[in-house]
Amino acid sequence: MDKIVVHGGKPLHGDVQISGAKNAALPVLTAALLTEGTCTFHNIPDLVDIKTTYKLLRNMGVEIEGDSTVQISADKIINSVAPYDLVKTMRASILVLGPLVARMGKARVSLPGGCAIGARPVNLHIKALQDMGASVELRGGYIEATADRLKGANIYFDLPTVTGTENIMMAATLAEGTTVLNNAAREPEIINLADVLKGMGAKINGAGTDVITITGVTSLTGTEASIIPDRIEAGTFMIAAGMTQGDINVLGCNPQHLEALINKLRDTGMKITPIDGGLKVAAGRKIHSVDVKTLPHPGFPTDLQAQIMAYMSIGSGLSVITETVFENRFMHVSELMRMGADITIQGGSAIVRGVPALYGAQTMATDLRASASLILAALVAEGTTEISRVYHIDRGYENIEKKFSALGADIQRMKQ
Ligand code: UD1
Repeated sequence: MDKIVVHGGKPLHGDVQISGAKNAALPVLTAALLTEGTCTFHNIPDLVDIKTTYKLLRNMGVEIEGDSTVQISADKIINSVAPYDLVKTMRASILVLGPLVARMGKARVSLPGGCAIGARPVNLHIKALQDMGASVELRGGYIEATADRLKGANIYFDLPTVTGTENIMMAATLAEGTTVLNNAAREPEIINLADVLKGMGAKINGAGTDVITITGVTSLTGTEASIIPDRIEAGTFMIAAGMTQGDINVLGCNPQHLEALINKLRDTGMKITPIDGGLKVAAGRKIHSVDVKTLPHPGFPTDLQAQIMAYMSIGSGLSVITETVFENRFMHVSELMRMGADITIQGGSAIVRGVPALYGAQTMATDLRASASLILAALVAEGTTEISRVYHIDRGYENIEKKFSALGADIQRMKQ
């Protein structure tokens, strides 16, 4: 198992190129299940979660070739099962459910179960499929769904679920009649998926708003499309610049996807300027502490909560960070405290009292974004930090240590 070792204290300078978004690539890859045609997708990031998706799809008989550009052909689907072994390592495997029921009339997908950041149920995915006429049974830890042909329905999501919206949007493309998704999630990744589906011949309106209308067609074709840049990776590097007194160019990102973060970072004193192909991001003279509340898009993303907490832990005052999307997403707090951070959890909020310095320590990654926050803390800590269990970070960040190293950080990956 690998660990990451960081000697802190180096300001970051230079350019970093942002990769394709994990959370956009995963649903787009599963969308290939909807057609017999071949799909070509560009800007696919090299991540463990992408490899897990390939295993899942290959297991169904899907042919996949390529790296950053992939060709996917689901000409023949030999089985429509997503087994527990794959689903347990990546909850987003649930994204095969909608496409399989729509194209094959059946799917058997393992229930994801709990995970480090909360219970994360999939009841809204299931209810929406039932609203569309599918019969769904939960048996032996699996969701077993069948439908001759799904029927358009008026669906109301209790919460704006991202993968739920994606799953049902995909399912509805091949349903009979029109489906309306109310209180749909509005993340940029949903727009990316809708654009891909439209390229395949789907009829979709309103992606990016909270009401999405999909009129079903009888079949979809192959398509060619690109994955949008990863706004969470971009945000992680932006915060790193602010923490290390750095000055970097974050290239290939889409500033429109980062508005909530840019606003917040400017309040902390950072300077953020649009440049050709991205953003110039520079630390301020002092880190002003700010309050943060996570919300569905376009609010502040929960996937950057751990990283901004690492930043606020060296702020000049008091910061209240409130998590409203997931109930148990403070796993990074105890690790940050081992590095000298002063944080108290009160219900869904973390009270962060800025300290003058963090100190290197042995730490353990607990989930994907928590690992990123530990790397950020390590970049400014006095001394050496070891972060173990880095497989969490490889799920969602492409070459993270190489990218930080190219910006001047003293960071290495080592065998444990
Ligand atoms: C997606 C992202 C993840 C991000 C999250 C919130 C992917 C692959 N993952 O996860 O990185 O942190 O959005 O922005 O895109 N909920 C239910 N029932 C359901 C579904 C969700 O109660 O059936 C709840 C969840 O527990 C959570 C909230 O809805 O409290 C939002 O979750 P959701 O948007 O579904 O997260 P994911 O799609 O799993």
